[in-house]
Amino acid sequence: MSETNLRVLITEDKIQARIRELGEKISKDYPVGNLHMICILKGAAWFMTDLTRALSREVFVDFMGISTYGKGKTSSGEVRVTKDLDISLEGADVLIVEDIVDSGVTLNYLMHVLDQRKPRSIRIAALLDKPERRLRPVHVSYVGFEIPDEFVVGYGLDYGEKYRNLRDICVVEDAGPTPA
Ligand code: IMP
Ligand code: MG
Repeated sequence: MSETNLRVLITEDKIQARIRELGEKISKDYPVGNLHMICILKGAAWFMTDLTRALSREVFVDFMGISTYGKGKTSSGEVRVTKDLDISLEGADVLIVEDIVDSGVTLNYLMHVLDQRKPRSIRIAALLDKPERRLRPVHVSYVGFEIPDEFVVGYGLDYGEKYRNLRDICVVEDAGPTPA
């Protein structure tokens, strides 16, 4: 048996302060036009709802489900759309909202898929970025925090579907075998 310990990496206050900054920056960068924010389910839902409320302009929201065929700490690299968008992106400024960029496989794939729908522009906002882990190139225009190569949970992020509702972002540490 191994026990799981959680260590706080980014507190709720720091997350919320950074999201307010990102909201201001995005509002300035998109002064006019139709802004469509696309939330990648499920993990980015927490970031998405806070980020939209940090904007001082109007926004359309939509949700997309992506599966990377992984239930533990790693994904296999195979990407599939499990829930598609409801609204057309033609002529819109699109902002993909993701919880974390790790290998880059998911977002690299998604950029190609969404680019075919004739948006005016596409950018990415990600709350967390683990640049050390990148396998595919991805340009992230709005990054909340760069973090080291550690597995994190909370504020939407899960480990086997657990811990999404934690307010802070925490590192999962396997404590190893429990002494008898
Ligand atoms: P990528 O395709 O490898 O960039 O993976 C991105 C997806 O992997 C994210 O949307 C998360 O669902 C998941 N992921 C990557 N790193 C972590 C982590 O540290 N904690 C929880 N989920 C993660
Ligand atoms: Mg995800």
